[in-house]
Amino acid sequence: MDKFVIEGPTPLRGDLPVSGSKNAALPLMAAALLADGPTQIRHIPKLRDIYTFNNVIRATGTQVRFDEEQRELLIDPSDLTHYEAPYDLVRKMRASFYMLGALIGREGYGRVSLPGGCAWGPRPVDLHLKGLEAMGVEIRLDEGYVVARAPERLKSGEFTLEPSSVGATINLLLAAARRSDRFVIHNAAMEPDVVLLCRALRKMGADIEGEGTPTLTIRGVSSLEGVVLDNAPDRIETGTFMIAAAMKPGSDVTLTHTDPEDLGEFPELFARTGALVTVNEHSIRVKAPDEIQPVSAVTGIYPGFPTDLQAQWSTLMTQARGTSRVQDTVYFDRFSYVPELQRLGASLQVEKNTVTIQGPSALSGASVMSTDLRASVSLVMAGMVAEGTTEVLRVYHLDRGYEELEKKLNRVGARIRRESDG
Ligand code: UD1
Repeated sequence: MDKFVIEGPTPLRGDLPVSGSKNAALPLMAAALLADGPTQIRHIPKLRDIYTFNNVIRATGTQVRFDEEQRELLIDPSDLTHYEAPYDLVRKMRASFYMLGALIGREGYGRVSLPGGCAWGPRPVDLHLKGLEAMGVEIRLDEGYVVARAPERLKSGEFTLEPSSVGATINLLLAAARRSDRFVIHNAAMEPDVVLLCRALRKMGADIEGEGTPTLTIRGVSSLEGVVLDNAPDRIETGTFMIAAAMKPGSDVTLTHTDPEDLGEFPELFARTGALVTVNEHSIRVKAPDEIQPVSAVTGIYPGFPTDLQAQWSTLMTQARGTSRVQDTVYFDRFSYVPELQRLGASLQVEKNTVTIQGPSALSGASVMSTDLRASVSLVMAGMVAEGTTEVLRVYHLDRGYEELEKKLNRVGARIRRESDG
């Protein structure tokens, strides 16, 4: 296992390119299984989760070619004959559960392992299953697997997601695109990743209305064709780098290859820290404030503050002058980074789903443990402003979702070494 050894503190200065989005790429990859021919997807990041999903897809007989140099995927489902996603692969990445919608949509049959637990509390899939049942899909549980069966053509139906769910919206879209007579999803996710999927499916020939609104109407079509798709820039990586750029006075970073439109209300909240933000069509420049203002945040569904930036925000707030609160209303138990930040000298306490942060704290280097993807990147950010050497252990979490993180950050002034954990 690898660890990062970070020498701090270092301000960040220069251009930081944003990679293709992991969370937007995965549904596009699943959608490719619905096509009659090959689909090409551009701007795919080289990430562990992408390699995992490639293997999940390959297990069905589908051909997957990843041109790593060009960041392009070619997915050809012509030989898809095995309608199963095994536990061994699904347990590595929950989004593999998208295979359920994709296989139902393609074949009317799928056997997909339930994803199991997660580092940040229970993450149920009940809405995925209830929504499919509302579509007329027959669902049975068999030794940890969901076995789904659907007739050639499903009758009309509707389902209300409560709460709104990105993953359930995606699975329902995938299942309905070729099979349902007419299916309406109420309180559907409006996240840019879902909008991108709707557009991709439409490009393939699907009939979907309402993208970006809480009501999606899908009228099944008998076939979809393989097309060329463009993945979006990673909005969570963009937000992460914006926060990292604000943490140390003297930092001045321009994020390139990004799409500021996908950030919802985040830039507005971010500017209240005192950071100077200049937004252009595909780039965002952030100059760190001399003194960071405390800004409280409450996570919510898009366009609200994303739960995937919650840990990074709390980390930034450890450097703000004053008290702030960060509440997660999407996931109640996503605070495993807190004791690790305390080890670095930060002052923060969790009560229920809210963390209260007193800043600013002078952080000093120590060994800390990655617990999940976003917690890990927060510890790296803390390490870059801490005095002395910080070791972030188990960075395999980071490799799931941040492409070449240490190389990118080193190019703008960080001092991060990847070493074997021993
Ligand atoms: C996706 C993202 C994840 C992000 C999350 C919220 C991917 C691969 N992952 O996860 O990074 O943090 O959106 O923006 O894109 N829920 C249920 N029952 C269900 C499904 C969800 O109760 O069947 C609840 C969850 O517990 C949670 C809320 O719905 O409280 C939202 O979760 P959801 O949008 O489904 O998250 P994911 O799609 O798993």
